[in-house]
Amino acid sequence: MNILIVGASGLVGGNIYHHLKAVSEFNIYGTYNSFEVPNLIRFNSSINYKSYPKIILETAWDVIIHTGALTNVDFCEENIADSEYYTVESTINLVKLSKVHHSKLIYISTDYIFDGKDGPYREDAQVNPLSIYGKHKLISENIVSQLNDYLILRITNVYGDELRNKNFLSRITQDLLLGNEKSVSGATDQFASPINALDIAKAIFNLIIDDKKGVYHLASTDYLSRVQFLQIIKKYFNLLKIESYKTSDLKQKAERPLRGGLNAEKFLTEYSDFHFTNIDDYILKLLKAHDAKL
Ligand SMILES: NC(=O)c1ccc[n+]([C@@H]2O[C@H](COP(=O)([O-])OP(=O)(O)OC[C@H]3O[C@@H](n4cnc5c(N)ncnc54)[C@H](OP(=O)(O)O)[C@@H]3O)[C@@H](O)[C@H]2O)c1
Repeated sequence: MNILIVGASGLVGGNIYHHLKAVSEFNIYGTYNSFEVPNLIRFNSSINYKSYPKIILETAWDVIIHTGALTNVDFCEENIADSEYYTVESTINLVKLSKVHHSKLIYISTDYIFDGKDGPYREDAQVNPLSIYGKHKLISENIVSQLNDYLILRITNVYGDELRNKNFLSRITQDLLLGNEKSVSGATDQFASPINALDIAKAIFNLIIDDKKGVYHLASTDYLSRVQFLQIIKKYFNLLKIESYKTSDLKQKAERPLRGGLNAEKFLTEYSDFHFTNIDDYILKLLKAHDAKL
């Protein structure tokens, strides 16, 4: 099976790339766009697909996993054309490529397609994105869902191992593991269901093997505000100082879904043996790896 992972230099794509390589016999190809990573193909999926590199255009892909998007929500709000280019155009082109090869397209989406009035959300909940980022992800979902064979996997608040250590949890724990004090502020009123990127990769492996189609929400059992997330980190790192705020105090460019998050019951009903890990599990793993280095 030939599998293309677009965005393998990123948090989610990187975890999918390494996990599928480790557990499967599939031919896995991964791409980067601006952040060069050895063994990955340089590729901008937003350009006209006819100008795609030969290897991307001509390989008979069984599965294309599209993780590429512009993910800075406030930047997207003020740079609508850029958001459209990286998030929507890339999807239009990868849908065309999927049609050429009759590939399954797996699209990674978000709880930002909901308005955050009554999360955690199930797959069939009413969509109503508040931000440009959310709107562009929803437009992309709608384009993907025109295919016969697609999976839309919605996730939120992802943490985990990544080359750039740029996710919320990694950024905070980096300093704390070095013994440095750190002050971090978090909203008391923004709720989501954080998930480890490795669990996303494991779920995708199952969904590919079983040739599943349609929409799935992936989420751990953690359903937390940002401050509650920080309080979990503080259990392990007393050097963390937490400041709390209300979202309305911040005057962020893009409106956030406040009671966001996702309900993964559909996935867990079909995969009753699957275990989503949580933030405690991940911090304990980091501490163990850190101690082993000393
Ligand atoms: N992280 C979260 O909490 C979260 C939550 C909900 C949904 N999601 C969704 O999950 C997906 C992955 O997010 P992430 O956190 O892994 O983001 P990330 O770390 O920023 O990774 C994004 C990846 O996409 C690549 N990319 C962006 N535009 C591209 C283009 N036009 N052509 C080819 N590659 C392109 C980037 O390449 P370079 O970096 O090399 O330029 C990078 O590898 C996104 O679709 C995002 O909307 C993420």
